Amino acid sequence: MLPNHGANPQQVYEAMNLKEPDTLIDFSENVNHLPFPLNLDIEKLLPVITAYPHPDGEPFLSAVAAYHGIEKEEVLLGNGAAEIFALLGNVLANKRVLVVHPTFSEYEATLAPHHVEFERVLVEDIATYQLPMKTLQKKIPYASAIYLCTPNNPTGVLPPREEIQQMIDWAQRTATLVVLDEAFLDWIGEEHTFITDAPNYDHVLVVRSMTKMYKMPGLRLGYAVGNASLIRSLARFASHWHINGVASALGAEMLKLHNYREKSIREVAVSRETLRTFLERQGCVVTNSQTNYMSFQLAEVEKSEAFYHFMLARGLVLRHSKNFRGMDGSWFRIGIKARPQMEAFEQGMIAWSQQ
Ligand SMILES: Cc1ncc(COP(=O)(O)O)c(C=O)c1O
Repeated sequence: MLPNHGANPQQVYEAMNLKEPDTLIDFSENVNHLPFPLNLDIEKLLPVITAYPHPDGEPFLSAVAAYHGIEKEEVLLGNGAAEIFALLGNVLANKRVLVVHPTFSEYEATLAPHHVEFERVLVEDIATYQLPMKTLQKKIPYASAIYLCTPNNPTGVLPPREEIQQMIDWAQRTATLVVLDEAFLDWIGEEHTFITDAPNYDHVLVVRSMTKMYKMPGLRLGYAVGNASLIRSLARFASHWHINGVASALGAEMLKLHNYREKSIREVAVSRETLRTFLERQGCVVTNSQTNYMSFQLAEVEKSEAFYHFMLARGLVLRHSKNFRGMDGSWFRIGIKARPQMEAFEQGMIAWSQQ
């Protein structure tokens, strides 16, 4: 079976019974293409490695509160955003949860062991990730929570602010928890976040990840923001010392890196538009992404499987869409990399179209 996440290229080759080429480019993952932004001195990190971490996750907790201009009590740190989703399972056990698809598969994966009943809605159009507002209005009152990935993975589309606000307004009437996953919002800009609004509501939780922008998937660091009582209700399920000292120390440094963030956003915006133009010239349908990845569909959709194989044989690993509801294998997600890798992708596609 193909892996349910990107960033597992070896597993893809194994699952498909294909020989892995000597060199490959993993377009299935979508962390920052720039080099790691800090100069690490392992000696300097020894004190945080050899001591137990701060029980509240300092210094990262204060850094997050200061970065967003919120109170520390409104923040819950996580061992990656993934831990926040795992914790949510405890408060949503045996409840009914509305999930907007296509989306990140971990929402359902973390809720399923808690016997959550899923109500799934599909967007009206994948390329623009158009939210089915009428359906949402009808279904929100019957759900204990709704999960929305904003900007969305795998399309990269940021749903309109007014529509998210509208969903929050509907949800408040029935105390339905609105979970907004902003794991990729760094790529667009803090002016679009709901973090500053979330603490004003009883039932809005915004989830963030340090993984993508700051190139640190191996360190595991993320956080959630909501009002203090919502945060407390989730925090009691976290294990003690769940935020490791190295991640906390480096995370606090990362939030100071204004220039790195700006440079990443600027470079990706240029590459994304170059890629969009290229794909559209190839006749593809391309999602309206504002992030460091996008999804596309071939002009000849029926050849999707053969195309995936063709690219894998050349060492070009795309993210398949077989486990994204509504996409069902007919779309591909591509993470944006530096120019030489993007050229290798373009050459692969040209070779495909010329065979
Ligand atoms: C949309 C989305 N949310 C959350 C996560 C989890 O992030 P983290 O690495 O912080 O656990 C991912 C990881 O791929 C993701 O794509």
